[in-house]
Amino acid sequence: MITFSHVSKSFDGYPVLQDIDFSVAHGEMVCLIGQSGVGKSTITHMVIGAEKPERGEVIVKGNHVSQLKGSDLQKFRRNVGFVFQDYKLLPEKTVFENVAFALEVTENDEGFIHQRTMEALFSVGMLELKDRIPSHLSGGEKQRVAIARAIVHAPDLLIADEPTGNLDPENTTSIAEVLKKLNKEKGMTILLTTHNPSFVKELAPRILLVEQGKISKDLPVGALFPNYKY
Ligand SMILES: Nc1ncnc2c1ncn2[C@@H]1O[C@H](COP(=O)(O)OP(=O)(O)OP(=O)(O)O)[C@@H](O)[C@H]1O
Ligand SMILES: [Mg+2]
Repeated sequence: MITFSHVSKSFDGYPVLQDIDFSVAHGEMVCLIGQSGVGKSTITHMVIGAEKPERGEVIVKGNHVSQLKGSDLQKFRRNVGFVFQDYKLLPEKTVFENVAFALEVTENDEGFIHQRTMEALFSVGMLELKDRIPSHLSGGEKQRVAIARAIVHAPDLLIADEPTGNLDPENTTSIAEVLKKLNKEKGMTILLTTHNPSFVKELAPRILLVEQGKISKDLPVGALFPNYKY
């Protein structure tokens, strides 16, 4: 699903990632951890073609991502869901409209848009609150709407950059449950970043530790990481 091969990246001459290699198989849930500034978000940005590697290759679903341009890049991005720490919902639109809006860009069959939007809201447990506006939702509810928006195109890959960064423990648990369900029941491949140890425990993902420009540890599902300070 995702392959990084000898990928290096620097910003303003300062090297961030140096010759990293890793692969994520179809159906895996993989979590990038590591201290602030090590390059976790940069890795997620390279997966969706928002940043280019300086050296090496990023191949996602058979595409050399840095070579995609224009409509090919747009088409590729439509099949990858992306969730941000700060939700990025449109404040004046309802929950339903926020999710439907993502589909209206490419679809004009209203019945189809309605059905897909309802399904996505159901998947994240937000159907009952579909007529609320974002300012009347908790942080966890907002993030569940953002996940619904990310999956409304039915992507097989979901990228989430610190999805619980602004959430309390209870809302963190609700996001962990949603992501586990998408991974287990829909077989969605998930690549996420976090600083939150309890989130990692609840997800029990494969863990990649990013350290000094490298993937320094690759721990399989089930391996705990008790001594690491996030
Ligand atoms: N567009 C950019 N221009 C210049 N420098 C950047 C840019 N994006 C990231 N960087 C730098 O690259 C390094 C890695 O940033 P990145 O955001 O990937 O870290 P991170 O591991 O996600 O950190 P955090 O845990 O704080 O989110 C940092 O030093 C950052 O300042
Ligand atoms: Mg980051």
